Amino acid sequence: MNLHKAELHPESLRHLERGHPWVIKDKYTERFKAKERFLLASGPKREDFILISDTAHHRVKARLWAKIPAGPLGSGHNYLETFTKELKERLAKAIKKRLPLYQSGERQNIFLTFGEADQLPGLKILLFGEGLVIQSYARFWKKFQKDLIPKLRELLEKLNIKVDWISWQERDLDKEAPLHPVWGKMPSEMTLKEYGVHYSLKFDQGYDLGLYTDMAAIRSGLDIDWENKKVLNLYSYTGAWSLFPLEKGAKEVVSVDLSSKYLDWLDENLALNPKLKKETHRRVDKDTLSALKELIKSGETFDVIFCDPPSFSSDGKKTSSSLKSYQELMPLFNKLLNPEGHALCFINTHSVTRKKFEEKMRETIKGTSLKIIKKLVLSEDCPRLANFPEGDYLKGLHLKKN
Ligand SMILES: C[S@@+](CC[C@H](N)C(=O)[O-])C[C@H]1O[C@@H](n2cnc3c(N)ncnc32)[C@H](O)[C@@H]1O
Repeated sequence: MNLHKAELHPESLRHLERGHPWVIKDKYTERFKAKERFLLASGPKREDFILISDTAHHRVKARLWAKIPAGPLGSGHNYLETFTKELKERLAKAIKKRLPLYQSGERQNIFLTFGEADQLPGLKILLFGEGLVIQSYARFWKKFQKDLIPKLRELLEKLNIKVDWISWQERDLDKEAPLHPVWGKMPSEMTLKEYGVHYSLKFDQGYDLGLYTDMAAIRSGLDIDWENKKVLNLYSYTGAWSLFPLEKGAKEVVSVDLSSKYLDWLDENLALNPKLKKETHRRVDKDTLSALKELIKSGETFDVIFCDPPSFSSDGKKTSSSLKSYQELMPLFNKLLNPEGHALCFINTHSVTRKKFEEKMRETIKGTSLKIIKKLVLSEDCPRLANFPEGDYLKGLHLKKN
């Protein structure tokens, strides 16, 4: 596996220099050849970039692996040995960083690597109890699968992380790909614990595992006293943001989702936690807007509203983007919240910058008693990389009513 000289657009070189780790499709990337896995590009300031090529990806044609001083490695140099050594070091570094979280036993779902932010471009590894799900965002990793799995197992054994099965999920495709077992026997479902709450995860339903691990650190880091609070969880999915407040002492939670399948799953999760009383939870199988209007009509109010809409959502009639839907939602939250109430609002897309999200949200709360008090960001096992907005896809705001 040799290095192959590649010429890049001056703008791509500038991006790489500033720390953005992707080379996006342009007329220069059209010259990349599928069989050339490692590319070498000369930067503007006497440094060379070593890139992992990915001609199959529709947009990200190469990802930065290393920046080195210009000169010593030329085209034709066999890079495999160096790459393998660096890969082992980076995996070890990323996983060791998460060891305290693993050993704390606070949760059984942890991102052991988080792609670019761990210098493992396009490679996310999720621990679920005693299983691993490897999410590959670049075709390169699929080609390297046979080498990666034994290295990973050896490392986990050394770090005393017990793993019984490993599955693979391709995330670089346009369609949603299911999990493929690559080692051991993946169960079709399992129960795992996150911050004292049990959840049912299903591994045989494609993308839909049942729990968003990138939200876990945000859940535990929130500055909210849930004791005796009444909570409204919108777009609730399987209920992580319903069960967590209940576990923390909330007196009542209402979960709204358009999908009865997910609300059934939420009920299943609730049943896994006998400590949480069924009568403290109410499900509303409805579109969010209609549910909110009915709640306002009935005069019900809440202490906390959690809102995490899909990037594009439909009420069955019209489709709207999450950002746009907040224009309608925020004035309703203002009506539904008790004084001193909290609203936790998220968007989950890299196509809207944090700045734009905040600007738009400020517009939506003009004339209301709501105020932004904190930004909510990916953290802990889901680190962010400076100058890489695509990796900062989950954006949240904590608002408070005066
Ligand atoms: C991104 S998931 C929410 C994840 C959830 N907040 C969590 O962290 O577990 C989006 C959910 O919104 C639901 N949904 C989509 N459009 C909706 C609508 N108009 N009204 C209510 N729920 C909707 C989907 O069924 C899905 O369960």
